[in-house]
Amino acid sequence: MKLLEEKIRQEGQALSETVLKVDSFVNHQVDPVLMQQIGHTFAQHYRGKGITKVFTIESSGIAPALTTALELGVPMVILKKQTTKVLNGDVYQTNITSFTKGTSYELTLSAKYIQPDDKILIIDDFLANGEAASGASRLVEEAGASIYGIGILIEKSFQKGRKRLEDAGYDVCSLVRISRLGRDLIEFEEADI
Ligand code: G4P
Repeated sequence: MKLLEEKIRQEGQALSETVLKVDSFVNHQVDPVLMQQIGHTFAQHYRGKGITKVFTIESSGIAPALTTALELGVPMVILKKQTTKVLNGDVYQTNITSFTKGTSYELTLSAKYIQPDDKILIIDDFLANGEAASGASRLVEEAGASIYGIGILIEKSFQKGRKRLEDAGYDVCSLVRISRLGRDLIEFEEADI
């Protein structure tokens, strides 16, 4: 998606060889018009595929997931990051360890918001090692539902997330793919749409 690539060229900052800062339009301040266009682009790609819900992981995935769900005319469900296991209650949980942030949490989904006949589209902001998307997929499959695809805003293609998800049989669609980061360097490669 050229528009997102342009925005990253203008406002993105490579903090290191692995971390790209996009606080001014994705992670802290959010650009609503860009999010609307992202939702439109994903919806064009996924329309007519029988998707029943868009899932995302709190918090930065919420804006693009919402605009995508709005365009597809389906609900959006936020997978919560909880610090502890819920021992009572009807929930699905799986442990996620973030390599980028060095944190760990229980990704949590209420059983109320998923049915076995659901066909889920997962939308998230970054794809790094694929931890979060793999965890989200585990929860969906544990509930007996299926994943149609995984839509990503910014894939860091020098990390192993895509391979991990594709090896597990999931279709990954990234709006932007970054092949290299470094001081004052953000290198792009061809994205999926
Ligand atoms: P993975 O899910 O692909 O394995 O990613 P990883 O665990 O390594 O990263 C976890 C968190 O770090 C996620 O945010 C992810 O969006 C974020 N992240 C990964 N790489 C980058 C990057 O280059 N730049 C930025 N800005 N963030 C990155 P999170 O903990 O879920 O936080 P939130 O912002 O969604 O609340």
